[in-house]
Amino acid sequence: MCGIVGYVGPRVATPLLIEGLKRLEYRGYDSAGVAIMNGRGVETRKAAGKISTLETIVNGSPVAGTLGIAHTRWATHGAPTTGNAHPHSDCKGHIAVVHNGIIENATALRHWLADNGHTFTSETDTEVLAHLIEASFEGNLEDAVIEALHMVHGTYGIAVISSLDRDKIVVARKGSPLIIGLGDQEYYVASDVSAILEHTRQVVYLDDGDLAVIERTGYRVLDLDAHEMTRAVSQVDWDLDQIERGGFDHFMLKEIFEQPQTIENTMRGRLLEADGTAKLAGLNVTNEELLEIDNIIITACGTSWHSALIGEHMLEEMTRIPVEVEYASEFRYRNPIVTSRTLCIVISQSGETADTLAAMREAKRRGARAIGLVNVVGSTIARESDGGVYLHAGPEIGVASTKAFTSQVVALALLTLRMGRLRALSSVRGAEIIEALHALPGQIREILDRAAEIEQLAEQYIESHNFLYLGRGYNFPVALEGALKLKEISYIHAEGYPAAEMKHGPIALIDSQMPVVFIAPHDSVFDKVVSNVQEVKARGGRVIALTSRDEPQLAGLIDHEIRIPQTIDMLTPVLAAVPLQLLAYYIAVKRGCNVDQPRNLAKSVTVE
Ligand code: AGP
Repeated sequence: MCGIVGYVGPRVATPLLIEGLKRLEYRGYDSAGVAIMNGRGVETRKAAGKISTLETIVNGSPVAGTLGIAHTRWATHGAPTTGNAHPHSDCKGHIAVVHNGIIENATALRHWLADNGHTFTSETDTEVLAHLIEASFEGNLEDAVIEALHMVHGTYGIAVISSLDRDKIVVARKGSPLIIGLGDQEYYVASDVSAILEHTRQVVYLDDGDLAVIERTGYRVLDLDAHEMTRAVSQVDWDLDQIERGGFDHFMLKEIFEQPQTIENTMRGRLLEADGTAKLAGLNVTNEELLEIDNIIITACGTSWHSALIGEHMLEEMTRIPVEVEYASEFRYRNPIVTSRTLCIVISQSGETADTLAAMREAKRRGARAIGLVNVVGSTIARESDGGVYLHAGPEIGVASTKAFTSQVVALALLTLRMGRLRALSSVRGAEIIEALHALPGQIREILDRAAEIEQLAEQYIESHNFLYLGRGYNFPVALEGALKLKEISYIHAEGYPAAEMKHGPIALIDSQMPVVFIAPHDSVFDKVVSNVQEVKARGGRVIALTSRDEPQLAGLIDHEIRIPQTIDMLTPVLAAVPLQLLAYYIAVKRGCNVDQPRNLAKSVTVE
């Protein structure tokens, strides 16, 4: 979604805001703008396209001032044009607003405001906010913002400045993340920590319904009835080089190569070898409460939904508790069966995905206990869940999720150990799983050492128009994930399917132009996969197979082989995902695609 940054302090604001926007570009990158209090009033610069375009404009006509707000956009209402770029202003240009979210009743408000003499210059829902604040203004900015927000339905993270009440930034959130950064004699506001990490690690996470007034001398947090609120100051444990590319061509490639370390981080201090179980301190649930659970719902979106499917397999196999996996966007509007004995596992890298957050709130409203598997510390899902497991995979900047996926699968394996050992899982089996977990980082390094082979292979498929990914059991979700990675960064149409499902339709797609990727490690369903490979080969398909050892049965049936190390069935997805991430990456790069910021996508989708 969009990214917001704000600054008030002794330094010239514009360069700080532009740098902050660059760090948030992965949130949205179709247009950008800044509004600065220049001593006379509010001065704005906006541009369609990348932040570099805005930077050129600002360098060409600099804006002086030590207080300002800025925005990078992911269009929802109105095309990505300069006119629709934020900040948006009121009729007289006294007020500037930047917004992340959707104003659902914008059309009705726009009509009402127009009937009352306001003129609009953009197609956006956001501009309504600037005019509502103008209509409510009686000398104090935060009072006007509060009154305006009482008329608004929808989601927002906003920052507002006004030449009529100069030396302050007013921010508010409902549904979209916002933090305040506490610097030395200066303050920042931002959609996430990466925008301000080079200036401070002291942050205040705002909750839904919070409004804050940031001035040169300090900040106040209020609710929407103007009552003072207290919010904790947190210390961010990420450091700057984690959000730099570190010599890699792209964040996505860097994050793929970080996986041996990030998986180590996800497991660190959590494996109890002696008992064959896992220690998950943040779960905040007792054994008795876990034993009360008689059904599990896992809900998520996108790549996180794929790891949920793997979690379903693991948990059902090791705990014998029935598990349902739900698309969060469907779950929140369905009348699901949820009881007080339901455990709702919510998976989200960003911890801010609107549909996933809403699905969690709905499950809790119906009595479920909600635990979050989240990567971003302090994110809304993390703070609102009853407990959870942080992935500790570090910041994931590339829009295509990679290291978060493998860490999610590992975190689900830890949860499976924790819950399984209370039920059907023996300590011996638990110990076997732990041994296999410990081997993963080294095994991933083996795969990464052969990245060049996958790059060569990619060369042969850059002209492809379609791809089919097939897997069975634990690796059907990996087929879905492999297809998603290729789709979202190379724009090649790709589908993932359970290998046996192919005969019921997709096999009609097979011809000599159709590359088919089989995830075929030597696991309990390998023999079944062999027959599916034969079906594809019989129709002339081009077969790429991920194998874990020499397979005489596949001789003459596959065009290209990618070898992954052998591991236990439930962990093969971790190893199989890595070459598929690399294959998608190299194909996209060779097609000249912007892999870190693919078209039409954003890193965390904070609107439904
Ligand atoms: C994956 O590469 C995509 N970026 C997207 O599908 C993502 O997984 C989805 O938006 C969910 O995000 P979350 O894990 O931050 O909730």
